[in-house]
Amino acid sequence: MTEKDKSTKQTNPKDAHQSSKDSSHDGDKATAKTVTATKSKKTKTIKVPIGFYGINIAEVEREVPLDEPPALPVNAELNVIGKSTRRLDGHLKVTGAARYTADIQLAGMLYGRMVRSTKAHARIKSIDLSAALAHPGVRAVHIVSRSVGGARERDDKPRIDEAKVFFDKSAGVPVIKYVGQPVAAVAATSEQAAKEACELVKVEYEALPFVIEIEDAMKPDAPKVFSGPTEQDGTAGGGGAPRGLPQKGNIRGPEVKGMFGGDRGNVEEGFSNADVIIDNEYRTQIHMHSALEPHGLLADWRDDMLTIYASTQGTAALRDDIASVFNLPKSKIRVITEYMGGGFGAKFGAGNYGIAAIFLSKQAKAPVKFMHDRKEEQTVAGFRPNSFQKLKIGAKKDGTLTAIKLESYGSAGTSLGAGVGWAAQNMYDCPNFASEHYDVLTNQSPGCAFRAPGQPQGIFAVEQAIDELCEKLKFDQIELRDKIDSNPTRKEQRKAGAKAFDWSSRKPNSDSGPIKRGVGMAQGEWPRFVDMNSSCVIKLVNDGSIEILSSVQDIGTGIRTVLAQVVAEELGLKPTDITVRIGDTLFPTGPASGGSVTTGSITPAVRKAAYHLKVQMLDLAAEQLKCDADDLTMKDGNIVQKNGSGSITIKKLAKGLSTDQLSLFASRAADYGGFEIGNFVGHGRLSSVQFADVRVDTDTGRIYVDRIVAAHACGRPMNPIALESQINGGILQGISWALYENRHTDKNTGIVMNPNVESYKLIGAKEIPKIDIVLLEEYLGRTNTDAHGIGEPAIVPTAAAIANAVANAIGVRIHALPMTPDKVLAALRKGGSK
Ligand code: MOS
Repeated sequence: MTEKDKSTKQTNPKDAHQSSKDSSHDGDKATAKTVTATKSKKTKTIKVPIGFYGINIAEVEREVPLDEPPALPVNAELNVIGKSTRRLDGHLKVTGAARYTADIQLAGMLYGRMVRSTKAHARIKSIDLSAALAHPGVRAVHIVSRSVGGARERDDKPRIDEAKVFFDKSAGVPVIKYVGQPVAAVAATSEQAAKEACELVKVEYEALPFVIEIEDAMKPDAPKVFSGPTEQDGTAGGGGAPRGLPQKGNIRGPEVKGMFGGDRGNVEEGFSNADVIIDNEYRTQIHMHSALEPHGLLADWRDDMLTIYASTQGTAALRDDIASVFNLPKSKIRVITEYMGGGFGAKFGAGNYGIAAIFLSKQAKAPVKFMHDRKEEQTVAGFRPNSFQKLKIGAKKDGTLTAIKLESYGSAGTSLGAGVGWAAQNMYDCPNFASEHYDVLTNQSPGCAFRAPGQPQGIFAVEQAIDELCEKLKFDQIELRDKIDSNPTRKEQRKAGAKAFDWSSRKPNSDSGPIKRGVGMAQGEWPRFVDMNSSCVIKLVNDGSIEILSSVQDIGTGIRTVLAQVVAEELGLKPTDITVRIGDTLFPTGPASGGSVTTGSITPAVRKAAYHLKVQMLDLAAEQLKCDADDLTMKDGNIVQKNGSGSITIKKLAKGLSTDQLSLFASRAADYGGFEIGNFVGHGRLSSVQFADVRVDTDTGRIYVDRIVAAHACGRPMNPIALESQINGGILQGISWALYENRHTDKNTGIVMNPNVESYKLIGAKEIPKIDIVLLEEYLGRTNTDAHGIGEPAIVPTAAAIANAVANAIGVRIHALPMTPDKVLAALRKGGSK
């Protein structure tokens, strides 16, 4: 989702108080007894823990809805939550038994494949399908008249919310704007037949001038990527830009209003009051998502029901998207994502492959599976936009910041939304701030949201500038940040991280050989978003089994296991006792997994459901045991009287149910104490502080990262081992972006030269450093689980921390990513410690 969408989603009081709107998707059979936990306007006051466990834990009173469960104590007093729990599906994944979208086989299934443009900019003069249609394996062919993903011309009406139209109205024909843009799609009886048929499609192009590189696209005489001004609305996954901004040629902007308002104070005055000014230019490169599992979707549209298996970060969002494209009732569409191999922001919406699969399935009256191959994945499936930033920071001798000014450019190819985030605007206390961001259009495939969109780019600049300020003012990096950063979470993270890293005993670089050692640190932030559209059903079945159902998908981060922990904690069971059925829109709608919202959004709904189920079970048990329900508790599969006088097993209780099952629907309550995002201070954000220990070989220019210490917090840690896994992943992705990854597109043809994971260099096993994670247990008192996000903050500061360590090692800064040997050697030639 866009920054704007995300903030409205959470601040809009209407949203905050909306009741569950998706009870119609309850997958219960008619025989089931459904009890809805009705929403009351009345509230009660509870006391919840707040602060850092082991440091300053306290209690705060919160006014909460009457149907909210009692407050959970700190993790030390719990049995399941907060204890490292192995993934319930781990064995299925490592043995290959888990069925991903590519593994689904249906009877009569066809294989979809795309005919893709070989030109970077062209009008299509003709498409000849006759030879392809004559291929014996071909069952359906579809011409792609409108390509989704990317910007659209301002006065062209989007067909769907997300429609990004490359359609030349004057010519009345589709216009190609990048190499690899879909032209036509075929469905055939085998992958080989589909491939052959694609090669038989003849496309005649009228070539147009194009521009590939951001610098070239910014020149006044550059070929225009779009003939007029462009617009792009955000989707669930991000991207998009504010409407109606000026556009000159390929440069669209300035965008001045970020998530936290516009400019403030007077920067010129601020700079004139500064004793020191740090003024530099920074560049970051395109970053590919490189998820293990490529994009893919299987469409089965044989009768009036459309069933979709998809690798998606949002099952319900995808259903809604498809309903809108194909003008179908949502009730006729079912989206299933049982297992997924990563998305990182690139897997929202139906995509060109998905829309084509649905068209083809309808035509052929057969299921059609459409998986990207790795080449498609690395060319047309999205990327983190590049950036060019001019950042100027002024400060007094005592470290106080007087002004921050940022001018940024970035290209998402044929997409908008290449902003560098709000780090410069928001992270440090500074009265004067001004920024301008410009999106630059090029004839490259559309970029999209990628793990903390904009933030790693913005932080790469801001945190190097602050580091340089520390050097100039002779301040310790932590001491200066303690002075200019009032966020209490990061203060504790700096303290804990510095201790684990042994920051205070670092020595000035005195290595005389070619290998120089250096240490550095950087910090970052991410908003604490919430998706209120988070619901579930819980069931007690008459054999005693417990099931939890929600459309929420596990994109690989482990929400399946966390939901089992929440239910198990409430009902006195083990996580393995709980059947978790998720990733299917037949179940009540759960959140889309974007913006690090999943755990913080769905766990409060699940705990509420489990709690109300417990209340009903205790009532039933009280009748049987002839005691008061208040005297009962649930433990190890039994309902026991607290005084030990009697008990009944859950199994026996369930046997006595008057129907097959007892089921109960619940939705997430609004944040306790109100949403904070409008006032983005204090606990309104998720933060991270990372430290890097590197070696730089000044002969070869190679950088070796030896150790990363990462201090993180995400509210109440639910499953520490899974959280550590996500933090590790963010750090690896961050190192990989900082040092190795770079997509090369030939400026003479627009062809991606390294569309694979070999010559597009990703971090390898031997390049993985020792990673030490300090996970703070921080209570915010915001929901009945008080769990919040971790995925995005994990990648934000990594590259900046490494860059600062490199500067510490060689005495000269690298202002551009990736920090490859050529850049290191060039910087050393300009004047480093060699
Ligand atoms: Mo994310 S980049 O909101 O999946």
